[in-house]
Amino acid sequence: MRVALLTGGGDCPGLNAVIYAAVRKGIQTYGDEFIGFLNGWRGVLDNQFIPLTLENIDGIQLRGGTILHSSRTNVKKIPGGIEKVQEVLKQNKIDALIALGGNDTQSVTLYLADNGINAVGVPKTIDNDISGTDQTFGFDTAVMIATEAIDRLHTTADSHNRVIVCEVMGRDAGWIAYASGIAGGAHVVLVPEQEIDIDHVCALLKYNYDHGKHYGIVVVAEGCHLPEVGQVIGSKEVDSFGHARLSGIGEALASLIEKKTGFETRSVNLGHTQRGGVPTAYDRLLGQRYGLHAIDMVHEQKWGRIAVLHGLDVTDITIKEAIATNRRLDQRFFNVIKDLEAKV
Ligand code: F6P
Repeated sequence: MRVALLTGGGDCPGLNAVIYAAVRKGIQTYGDEFIGFLNGWRGVLDNQFIPLTLENIDGIQLRGGTILHSSRTNVKKIPGGIEKVQEVLKQNKIDALIALGGNDTQSVTLYLADNGINAVGVPKTIDNDISGTDQTFGFDTAVMIATEAIDRLHTTADSHNRVIVCEVMGRDAGWIAYASGIAGGAHVVLVPEQEIDIDHVCALLKYNYDHGKHYGIVVVAEGCHLPEVGQVIGSKEVDSFGHARLSGIGEALASLIEKKTGFETRSVNLGHTQRGGVPTAYDRLLGQRYGLHAIDMVHEQKWGRIAVLHGLDVTDITIKEAIATNRRLDQRFFNVIKDLEAKV
């Protein structure tokens, strides 16, 4: 078969591992040929692609980012977009498409599959918020980066008797804040699933100062709501899927904490460092397992389906099911945060 791959939405450590494994198995086991469209759906519309061969994918599973580059392009919103995609795929004699992306990218994959295009998906997001899969690749790397940063914040916060608020990614779900906050021993962990109670946050920090620890670490997800200021956005611009750019809740929270407690407070926003650099061993392995499954899905003609991790197994579900809702933290995880907090 002649198979095309693309990567859409925010990049994610592990994307190259998926590409590597799908292409390697496709060529070696099935005798497939591959191309990679550049810049997500934009590259399909513009007919921009590169060949993917055993030679040019060699070693990419070790590298972060995506060799195919990415964009946030919403084909559904572009007049004639679907027709253009159909035309370009036909022109390049593409038998099947593998789209690596999060909910937005996969909403386009589903739309194309519903319109007669042979397409399957692979779930991608550091936010780990895609339904029906236990974990997306990239999440483990982001958590490791954030945890290491939090470790470093402890010593400087301690030296200066300060509170430091660390903002991490997580638009709709607080998986990164939860995992890095708990692993990094933060005194306060705040997730978008729960509105911030500033009095409780201040009480937790005061507890430290009253009990001989004259500093505090707060981890807050970018998507958190602070009733005093609402959800903080970094720019009024929205992407083609209608998402505002979130950024700044950490800074807003830090100034409120300082005002309410009198503790000197600083904030740090980890931003895109969480998406950069090499993937962890876990993400390289998970990415490659997703890639192997994706090329099997193509040969089993599982159009409109997406690879998922269920326990230890990589399997697949419908894209419709995967994008119906965001996978968010629930009471089990709130309990972990609560049980490890100071009793105030
Ligand atoms: O991929 C999801 C995400 O990491 C969100 O947590 C964040 O809001 C967004 O991407 C940022 O994307 P961009 O690269 O467009 O600024």
